[in-house]
Amino acid sequence: MDWGLKNRISRIIKPETGKTVMLAIDHGYFLGPTSRLENPRETVTPLAPYADCVMLTRGVLRSCVDATLANSVVLRVSGGSSIIGEDLANEEIITSVEDALRLNASGIALSVFVGSKYEKQTLLSLSKLVDEGERYGMPVLAVTAVGKELGKRDARFLALSCRIAAEIGAHIVKTYYCDNFEKVVEGCPAPIVVAGGPKMSEKDALELTHKSISAGAIGVDMGRNIWQSDNPVAMIKAVRKVVHEDATAKEAYDFFTKLTKKK
Ligand code: 5RP
Repeated sequence: MDWGLKNRISRIIKPETGKTVMLAIDHGYFLGPTSRLENPRETVTPLAPYADCVMLTRGVLRSCVDATLANSVVLRVSGGSSIIGEDLANEEIITSVEDALRLNASGIALSVFVGSKYEKQTLLSLSKLVDEGERYGMPVLAVTAVGKELGKRDARFLALSCRIAAEIGAHIVKTYYCDNFEKVVEGCPAPIVVAGGPKMSEKDALELTHKSISAGAIGVDMGRNIWQSDNPVAMIKAVRKVVHEDATAKEAYDFFTKLTKKK
């Protein structure tokens, strides 16, 4: 692996712990102004200092994030469909690697839709991005299993999606937690980060984080369970406790409760 690629990966996955807390705020690229992400600048400004990496689109990066940001960014570069359109899976590459380099991204992300009508199209986009990413030292994060139509997100399906993404060359794979998550991790030679999914209680989200890390995930790429919390800064700090400090879910939740009482 060349120096540039390694250096960018080390800005996403912290070398001190080998783990990462990524903050996902890319939802608007197909959902529009999602609840509590209507004004991305307001959402991201207080949270960014606690995120090892922020995942977002170039439009939000340019207009809502100060260029003095100390932490890294992963740019979502796939899209082209919407929640009200024909098929969410019908995505293509919408941002060039050249623009990602210009924006000083530490990585680029795209979704693959294994099991959908657009499986081949999205997997070919992944292979194209990995080729370009390798050329320029830009790591690629493959997002698997978004969308309700893809059936059951069980270990068998997620293991299949993650393994295919890793075989094509994704440097990091993002997926969802499920029962027997160890099986998904075991079968995937690339490091895995876990998405939070729809908003649940903070206690449950910290439990999910802990179970994911215990099963071998190297971190989270979490959105709604952080910024849809009534106490988003306390929540991201609690998630960090689990990911970087090996806290149990209970310890992290107690920490969260303490922080919210202090407010
Ligand atoms: C959607 C994404 C989101 O970034 C991902 O779902 C993470 O956010 P959340 O924790 O809210 O599920 O990649 O395609």
